Amino acid sequence: MENRGMKRGIVIEDDWPGHSPDLFTYPEHYQEDIECVYIPNGVIMNRIERLARYVLDDFTENIMVLCVLKGGYKFCADLVEFIKILGRNSNTYLETRVEFIRLKSYVNDQSTEELHFMGSRDLSFLRGKSVLIVEAMVDTGKTMKALLKHVETFEPKMVKVAGLLVKRVPTMTEGLTDYVGFEIPNRFVVGYALDYNEYFRDLNHICVISGTGKMKYKI
Ligand code: HPA
Ligand code: MG
Repeated sequence: MENRGMKRGIVIEDDWPGHSPDLFTYPEHYQEDIECVYIPNGVIMNRIERLARYVLDDFTENIMVLCVLKGGYKFCADLVEFIKILGRNSNTYLETRVEFIRLKSYVNDQSTEELHFMGSRDLSFLRGKSVLIVEAMVDTGKTMKALLKHVETFEPKMVKVAGLLVKRVPTMTEGLTDYVGFEIPNRFVVGYALDYNEYFRDLNHICVISGTGKMKYKI
């Protein structure tokens, strides 16, 4: 049964302080750069396994996965892995093919106006396919809307969006993301391939950066 809670994913409330970094392991070079562990890696993985189940319930034919780089690479790899494992265990094995698209819209922790398509914009291989867009972070939804519009021009048979994190920002567009991992407050987070000026992608947990960390890696 679908309900609103499911559509929003795991909801993290505004007052969630996160866990003390001391309670987990993480790369030593980020020792002073993390304020808290917001979502531990294990929880991320458990939630992605559930998202894979939703995907298998909805798709009936081979899946053309469109991974939005760079932030989506870990989410995409783990989601596709779970789709394979769950499919194998339930006779709903669907072939997955992964293609990549690279977008960039953030400098420091601020969104810039333009959406930069980097790399190929020709997605004609999507024609007639069942497409799963995999994106780590959806906030205002501006980027996702632009991407969806672009993808639709290639006339895929069906398009679904998986977003690991959906941010509660005042201007958020509801209903863009079909599979939501976590709905989080309007805070800048890093880790699990999400970056701050290219740093912190090598952190397995999703974390909030400390003031020190923000200063250290500012450009
Ligand atoms: N972290 C990293 N990258 C981002 C974020 C964030 O919170 N929001 C949009 N891009
Ligand atoms: Mg980024």
